Order: sequence, then C-alpha cells, then structure tokens
Amino acid sequence: EAAARRSGRLLGRGQKDEADGLAVDAMRQAFDSVRISGTVVIGEGEIDEAPMLYIGEHVGAGGPEVDIAVDPIEGTNLIAKGQNGAIAVMAIAEKGGLLHAPDMYMEKICVGPRGAGAIDITKSLTENIQNVAAKMGRKVDEINLVMLDRERHYGLMKEARDLGARIMLISDGDVNPAMECCIEGSGVHMVVGTGGAPEGVLAAAALKCAGGDMQARLLPRNEVKGDTEENKKIASDEIQRCAALGVKVNEVLKLEDLVRDDNLVFTATGITNGDLLKGISRKGNLASTETILIRGKSCTIRKIQSIHYLDRKDSEIYKILNI
Ligand code: FBP
Repeated sequence: EAAARRSGRLLGRGQKDEADGLAVDAMRQAFDSVRISGTVVIGEGEIDEAPMLYIGEHVGAGGPEVDIAVDPIEGTNLIAKGQNGAIAVMAIAEKGGLLHAPDMYMEKICVGPRGAGAIDITKSLTENIQNVAAKMGRKVDEINLVMLDRERHYGLMKEARDLGARIMLISDGDVNPAMECCIEGSGVHMVVGTGGAPEGVLAAAALKCAGGDMQARLLPRNEVKGDTEENKKIASDEIQRCAALGVKVNEVLKLEDLVRDDNLVFTATGITNGDLLKGISRKGNLASTETILIRGKSCTIRKIQSIHYLDRKDSEIYKILNI
C-alpha cells in the first residue's frame, strides 16, 4: 500500500524512474516496522545496481527468517504514461522458499487452478492450449490467452490465432494477468510468452498461493533480443550469475522449483486501475487503495480496501518533493 500510495502521486507524469524511487523508498521504510528478518531474493537488482531492496539486502525489524520477492512497481511505464495495470507486488515465503533468479528474461506459461497439471513448456503452444482447454472443459476457441505485445511473440500469436484461441495483448505488466488466471470469471485462462524473471517468480508466488500452475525457463538475453556482441556479453554475465545462484538457464522450472513453500503469502496493491484491482484514488487528504492478499496455506483470496489519511502518513514527503 505504501509503495502504491507514494508512487501513485506521479501517475501520468512521464517520470518512471522517479515513481520507482518513491515506491522503493516507501516499501523499504515499511519493512522497518515489520517483525521479520527478511532477505530480499527478488528485488531491484544487484547490490551495485540498486541503493535499496537489492538482492541479498536484509530488511525488517527482526523476527522469523523469511525470503522476500518485491516489485515496488510492476509496470513503471504504465504509471509514467497513466495507463491501466500498474501494481505494487510482494511475496513472502519461508527461508529458501523462493527461486533466486537474476534480473533476466524468462519464458513462462501460467494457468489457474482449473488448468493446473495440463501445461508442459517443452510442448508446442498448440498442444498446451488444447490440453488446457480439455482440462478446463472448454473448446479451444473459448480459451483466452494474455501475452506481452512484443515482436518476439509474433510466432506464438499466429499459432494461437490459427488454432482459434483469443489473445489479449498487453503493453507491460505480466504479473497482473497471472493473478487473474486464479480468479474465476476473470476471463483470463492462460498467460504465455517471455518477460522478466523477477516478475516470473512473483507470478509463480500468486499461482502457488491460489492453486494455479506455471512452468518456466530462464533465457539468456541473446536468445531473446538477438545475437549482437553486447547481448552475448550480457548473456554470459547472466549465465555466470545463474551459476552462482544455483540455477541453470534453459532448464525447465516447474512451479515447485519456482516456489518451494506452501505457506507463502502473496500481495499486490493497485496503482493504476486494472481489471482485478482498482488503482489509487485521491482527493485532498484522503486516498483509497485496493489490495489482493492470497494466503498459500488456505488458498484464501482476500481483497482489502483501505482509506488513508495522507497527513498522517506521507504529507512531509510530498512537501519535500513538491508534488
Ligand atoms: P517494469 O515494471 O520493471 O518496467 O517491467 C514491466 C514488464 O512489462 C514486466 O511485466 C515484463 O515481465 C517485462 O517488463 C517485459 O520486459 P520487456 O519490456 O523487455 O519485454
């Protein structure tokens, strides 16, 4: 909520890095009041890249040891452009409960509880759609897929459309549709394609909590963005980084490899409006937020609507920043 509230102040202002800075700051501060000994395993980058919430940073006021995955703004472009679908996301699991992955690309296939068990990333998209449709008791032309609108997905788009499935293209933010897969009636049945690995682990956390399913593969940059010298160099760093973290690129990662804890908690707060979560709305001193909280142990999905009195929370910061 804190990350969403603060960054929401820069909605539509074209300042994606500044909005991200506000969200990171707010989330980092909020951890100081929570009785946990947390280690950030999915965060804002490596220690030399991010001042706060970097991978390996310890957060919390002391207490049980937990691993934390954060994305203070999932969809920085969406906030900057005032578009729908930006959220602040977090998952907390027991120590060792979440895959430690560097910030690189990940190929993903996600389904909700009714499609669980029917996906296999080593098979073609056609077979996956057919198997998910059969598992869900739908025809293939009743399957709605979400995909990032990227050139690299043109082949997948053609394959799915040739089969008769429907594709909803999004410009950014592939954690949101993974959450939607878990909500009966959301109209989202599958999420497929390549996006960020940190977002992949967060999507896996949501799916694990809510009984969905996911398979993935970490992809070196040159395999996604082309074989230029620069991409090959980045890819070689990524491969080394993966080796240091004990994961392999191109290897199939099942849901239980991505998330190893059944008792984790996943949460996301809307920043801009989305199909699942309302974005922040603010009038004078009051702001309202909508949050989804999914508890892995029971699969309970809660929606929390909050009203915030800004003069008790953020007003000093807004004054300093003149926003
Ligand atoms: P940021 O919020 O970090 O900008 O990421 C947004 C996002 O759209 C993710 O949801 C997605 O997984 C990834 O970027 C896709 O990366 P790319 O834009 O390079 O295709």
